[in-house]
Amino acid sequence: MRRKLAAGNWKMNGLSASLTETAALLAQVSDIRAEVLICPPATLLAPMAAQVRTGALALGGQDCHPASSGAHTGDISAQMLRDAGATYVIVGHSERRADHAETDSMVRSKTEAAWAEGLRAIVCVGETEAERDADNTLAIIGGQLAGSVPDQATGENLVVAYEPVWAIGTGRTPTLDQIGEVHDFIRSRLEKRFGEGVGRSVRLLYGGSVKPGNAAEIFGVSNVDGALVGGASLKASDFSAIATALD
Ligand code: PGA
Repeated sequence: MRRKLAAGNWKMNGLSASLTETAALLAQVSDIRAEVLICPPATLLAPMAAQVRTGALALGGQDCHPASSGAHTGDISAQMLRDAGATYVIVGHSERRADHAETDSMVRSKTEAAWAEGLRAIVCVGETEAERDADNTLAIIGGQLAGSVPDQATGENLVVAYEPVWAIGTGRTPTLDQIGEVHDFIRSRLEKRFGEGVGRSVRLLYGGSVKPGNAAEIFGVSNVDGALVGGASLKASDFSAIATALD
């Protein structure tokens, strides 16, 4: 059984005052079955880790460098994330792929760095609107998966997030059939490459304009094991409603 996962990606949002949101969230999700994860900006990892000592909330980074330390000004390593209290890290988010020209092979190296530190990696894939319009969605996703996911994947160390680029922060979402088609495709690719046991145990998240109002229907789609949530994860009441819809 794959444990459902509600992952919140705060992106470049959040100051120390935002710790009141995590305090509220902790209270609201304390007895739900789904796993709840917040990936705050790196500056908030350590204070959040102190706040969530109960373990009711998992914490993650939003990116990591392939190296564990060294002369890389402004970067953060998987070791630093773990040291600050993270157990997860998002890699290959489309904003990183676009803003920092991250390639599949860079995402693969980052994933390996995360695994070397015992972090779970949430590897993001997704097509642009032009790619979907050209009927290239599955080819793009297949290529990203093959290039970004290292060979040592297991159900423990890997989560895959399907995030159509055109659905992120736009209020637009694919149809439920379109989400199901991509999630089934990702599942079959993972089973083919890693064997049925591993392929079936990896959790697949949908991301892109998930809100309290559409979460339940999206979670009803086959092979959707949770969500990667941006905007709606910033407010405890919205994010806890989404996490609760997974139960
Ligand atoms: P959104 O972002 O929920 O604000 O659309 C999702 C994401 O980028 O992970």
